[in-house]
Amino acid sequence: MVDLSKFQATGTETCFHGRHVNPQIYAGLNGANWRLQDYVARGGYAALKKILAADGGAGMTPDQVIADVKLSALRGRGGAGFPTGLKWSFMPRAYPGPKYLVCNSDEGEPGTCKDRDILFYNPHIVIEGMAIAAYAMGIRTGYNYIHGEIFEVYQRFEEALEEARAAGFLGDNIQGSTFSFQLHAHHGFGAYICGEETALLESLEGKKGQPRFKPPFPASFGLYGKPTTINNTETFAAVPWIINHGGQAYLECGKPNNGGTKIFSVVGDVNAPGNFEIPLGTPFSKLLELAGGVKGGALKAVIPGGSSAPVLPAKTMMDLTMDYDAIAKAGSMLGSGAVIVMNDTRCMVKSLLRLSYFYQHESCGQCTPCREGTGWLWRLVDRIEHGKGKKEDLDLLDSVADNIKGRTICALGDAAAMPVQGMLKHFRDEFAHHVEHKTCLVPQVVQS
Ligand SMILES: Cc1cc2nc3c(=O)[nH]c(=O)nc-3n(C[C@H](O)[C@H](O)[C@H](O)COP(=O)(O)O)c2cc1C
Ligand code: SF4
Repeated sequence: MVDLSKFQATGTETCFHGRHVNPQIYAGLNGANWRLQDYVARGGYAALKKILAADGGAGMTPDQVIADVKLSALRGRGGAGFPTGLKWSFMPRAYPGPKYLVCNSDEGEPGTCKDRDILFYNPHIVIEGMAIAAYAMGIRTGYNYIHGEIFEVYQRFEEALEEARAAGFLGDNIQGSTFSFQLHAHHGFGAYICGEETALLESLEGKKGQPRFKPPFPASFGLYGKPTTINNTETFAAVPWIINHGGQAYLECGKPNNGGTKIFSVVGDVNAPGNFEIPLGTPFSKLLELAGGVKGGALKAVIPGGSSAPVLPAKTMMDLTMDYDAIAKAGSMLGSGAVIVMNDTRCMVKSLLRLSYFYQHESCGQCTPCREGTGWLWRLVDRIEHGKGKKEDLDLLDSVADNIKGRTICALGDAAAMPVQGMLKHFRDEFAHHVEHKTCLVPQVVQS
């Protein structure tokens, strides 16, 4: 059993520390109130009852649900930020055979730790969100693919599923309606690539978790070759609030094209790391303040959206708001919402070495540019870090990264290339210093 008191005292690495701004998903959590009765006491399952007319109201048609989600400007929280309502409209509802709904709870992006807290401390919000999505798309079967290394989260989700079935929120004729939805949990195997949606489907089918070539996209050829919609855990968790309060209210919580709240996992050199739910469009400076400010030095740089997002220098970050469009305009991406904060004692060459090691290790090896290129990147950064770099290595790094980008089956290739190019763009002097002087620039900066 997890000792909750130590988290409550420090607010570290949990979602119930009370330092969110207008939370919707983490609202009212205390670390122990995850059960069905607690969720219902917080207003849970009201949205599902509302669409099914089980609350005595008129109900909502599947088209109305999708229209509301479109209006909300909810964008996928798994990384790409694709508009959720639009994705749901791709599902061929009239397709006669089985169709599937899949929740991506693989959460392998370094720095990201929000989905596991949703599942552990508020599992029913994901179940309710999935049931609403299934209703909107005419789906009867769903799976939640949960990361392989968080077994206790998987067990808890299984318990929550049992509670929901027993209370008639899952299964046949939900709440006395004609809508039936069966939802199952699936324990993943801990590979980063299994978070990529088509690799996840392969893994769910019991095969090696390797991405599929796209097109066809999962909406037409997904799980077992059937139409499938995949969304991230946080995306589904956002849905009940939208149905309860309306798409317009959700949109107004954030900013245009960036509706609602987003959970950011703030990690690295901060005094109080953890998950923070804040409205999209909140200044980065406010998020940093919530996380207790920078620890161990001045702010040097931030990776704003998980390890595959290009790094941004401190000055750029301090002028930014935390939303998809602002971060993209600054040359990075909001991604999965992991905010990796680095102080001025951090060497960028060493940081990139760690990231490059990760990507070459996680490449599934199917396509040559990724399999070979990620290894090249890692070895090049390794020799620069260890004083064996050559002058031409910086351009070579850039060119290898360029030759991976856009030439692979899945986006892991891009994810490996983008951090390299971001580092070279903003911190090239540190790489050049390593090559020229065979030493690190950072200690000299700190001492002067
Ligand atoms: C290498 C790689 C890893 C990924 N890992 C995850 C993950 O752990 N969780 C996730 O939700 N999406 C992940 N994605 C994105 C998914 O492919 C997919 O876009 C997402 O689950 C769609 O849900 P959304 O629209 O709600 O964001 C990953 C993508 C790539 C290329
Ligand atoms: S890009 Fe990399 S991880 Fe993706 S399919 Fe190709 S080899 Fe595998």
